[in-house]
Amino acid sequence: MNAPVIVAENLVRHYQVGGGLLSKPRVVKALSEASFSIAPGKTLAVVGESGCGKSTLARLVTLIEEPTAGRFTIDGIPATRENWARLRKTVQIVFQDPYGSLNLRHRIGTILEEPLKIQRPDLSAREREERAREMLRLVGLRPEHYDRYPHMFSGGQRQRIAVGRALMLEPKLLVLDEPVSALDVSIQSQVLNLLLDLQERLGLAYLFISHDLSVVRLVADEVMVMYLGRPVEFGTRDAIFAHPRHPYSKALLSATPTTEPNPERKRIKLEGELPSPLDVPPGCAFAPRCWKAQDKCRAARPELSDEAHRVACFFPED
Ligand SMILES: Nc1ncnc2c1ncn2[C@@H]1O[C@H](COP(=O)(O)OP(=O)(O)OP(=O)(O)O)[C@@H](O)[C@H]1O
Ligand SMILES: [Mg+2]
Repeated sequence: MNAPVIVAENLVRHYQVGGGLLSKPRVVKALSEASFSIAPGKTLAVVGESGCGKSTLARLVTLIEEPTAGRFTIDGIPATRENWARLRKTVQIVFQDPYGSLNLRHRIGTILEEPLKIQRPDLSAREREERAREMLRLVGLRPEHYDRYPHMFSGGQRQRIAVGRALMLEPKLLVLDEPVSALDVSIQSQVLNLLLDLQERLGLAYLFISHDLSVVRLVADEVMVMYLGRPVEFGTRDAIFAHPRHPYSKALLSATPTTEPNPERKRIKLEGELPSPLDVPPGCAFAPRCWKAQDKCRAARPELSDEAHRVACFFPED
C-alpha cells in the first residue's frame, strides 16, 4: 500500500456570526469531526445536501482556512500554518464555476503560468511556456490555445483549463468542489473521463465533492456521506451504493436515477427542512426527518461505528 497523501483526524470548523451591540455572537457548526485518508490514485467522494459542510472541508484541506479543532497531514507533513507555504504545491483545488475562477482578462498561457511564477522562480520564461503548452495537450486542448482568452472557450473547455492550472505545480492531491455541476450533462462525462485519465496517469489523489450521486458513482473509490456538517456514513463506493446503511444515505440514493431497472427500489421522500447549522438538533441531527427515529435518537448522538463500512445510526440497515 502506498502511504496516504492525506490523513485527517476529527476535523472541525466553526464560524462565529453576528455579535453586534444587542446580539450575542452565535456559532455555525459548519464541519464536525471529519476523519478520512486518501491514497495516491484514489478518490474519496464527499456527498450531502447544500450547506452540509462540503466546501468548508475543501477550504481546510486546501489550506485556505485553519480547522477549529482536529488535524491533518498532507504527504506526511502536519498541515499546520507554519507548514502551509511548503504544502501549497502539494494540494490544489478546482472549483465548480470555471468562468468565475479564471481571470477573464488574461490569456490562457498567463493563467496557466501564474502558479509557476509564484512557486517556481527557478524556471525561465521559456520553460514556463513549454510547460503551459504541454499542459494544454494533457488536458485535451491544443498548444495554440495558449494565446486565447477564456471567453473563446466553452464551459467544458474552461473547466479543462482550470484543471490544467491546478496541475501546473504537480500536486499530489486535487480537491474538486463540484467540478462538473455547472456543465451540461452531455459535457460532464467528458470532463469526468479527463479527470479519471489524469488520475491514472499521474497517480493523483482526489477529494471529490458532489451532491450528484450519479457522478459520484462514476468516480469514487470511497464515499463519505455528510449531514449537517457531520459524516454519517463512510464506505467503499460499491458498499454504499449497493447497501446504504444510514437512512439519510438511503433516501439520497433513492432519489438518484440509475440505469439498471430495480423494481424493489422505492423513492424515499424526506419530510421536513434541513435544520440550520446554527441550531443543530440534540441527538442525531437527522432524527427530525427520519422515519426510523425513536426516543433514543433524539436524546443521544450516535457515533460513527468502527468497522469498514461505518455508519452513525442507532438503527442502521443491515
Ligand atoms: N465564512 C462563513 N461564515 C459563517 N458561516 C459559514 C461560512 N462559510 C460557511 N458557512 C456555513 O457553513 C455551512 C456549510 O457551508 P458549506 O459551504 O461548507 O456547505 P456546502 O456543503 O459546500 O454547500 P453547497 O452544496 O451549497 O455548496 C453553511 O450553513 C454555511 O452557511
Ligand atoms: Mg459548496
